[in-house]
Amino acid sequence: MKHFLSIDDLDREQFEALLDLGEQFIAVNQREIPKLPVLRGKVVASLFYEDSTRTRLSFETAAKRLSCDVMTFSVASSSVKKGESLRDTVQTVAAMGIDAIVVRHPSAGAPLRITDWTDASVINAGDGRHAHPTQALLDMLTLRRHRGPSLDGLRVAIVGDVRHSRVARSDVKALHLLGAHITLVAPPTLLPESLEGWPVQVAYDLDDVISEVDVVMLLRMQFERQQQALFPTVREYTARYGLTSARAERLKPDALIMHPGPMNRGVEIAAEVADGPASLVIEQVANGVAARQAVLYTLLGSGAPVA
Ligand code: NCD
Repeated sequence: MKHFLSIDDLDREQFEALLDLGEQFIAVNQREIPKLPVLRGKVVASLFYEDSTRTRLSFETAAKRLSCDVMTFSVASSSVKKGESLRDTVQTVAAMGIDAIVVRHPSAGAPLRITDWTDASVINAGDGRHAHPTQALLDMLTLRRHRGPSLDGLRVAIVGDVRHSRVARSDVKALHLLGAHITLVAPPTLLPESLEGWPVQVAYDLDDVISEVDVVMLLRMQFERQQQALFPTVREYTARYGLTSARAERLKPDALIMHPGPMNRGVEIAAEVADGPASLVIEQVANGVAARQAVLYTLLGSGAPVA
């Protein structure tokens, strides 16, 4: 495996191998000294053209725990502000000698384009609405720890702004690869223009499915990607599609709640629900480091077992 761009590029066996490796890194991360020397001398550059807290810190932490050297590029303080093109920026960074480049970009397909401009491994950290494959990996790692090893037959509702969500696109593929049943829940205006080829069922009313599902994945309302009003008011959205405390009470007793972050508390999820016992939100972030270690080690490592 040279690049990590989309869940589409993986078969079930490769995906499960990454999950197994992720489990091993979770165990390593619980040690008193979690740092391993396995990628010493490798250089990882992170190139973020969109704002990010968790994904960027997570990749950088993962790389450092494997003893990589990390180069951080921030658009806000770079020559991009002077008009430098993506291609020139990538080639400039690559000329300094790097082994992997972690890219987040507002345009779908940017990470794939970058593979033409550098010999380094390219890792997609989120491109437009298209894909966010390491988020799907960490979500599956988290679910497998609670419901695994098999997710076959697990019933998952993905609720909210599916239309603008790369997380939803990657999670649908990953859940399908692992045998889960997926229901998208949203008003028609927040669903993609076409769902042809999506292995999902659709529900327009959260109250119809809330008591039947094993997992609820909430999506952030992507206000910054919406050009027009897609629902009457935020309050009305929350009343119909938000995971309010009253709705959360109708969940199965062992149902799990996930959100990729950042959360709009009080919009798609009530604060008490986000902080409640069924919420995996913080655990998702913790497992994100291990998931990214698994990806970096698979792309840059020797293939030797993790110590
Ligand atoms: C997501 C993203 O940026 O795609 N966040 C993340 O990486 N955890 C989701 C979002 O922004 O809503």
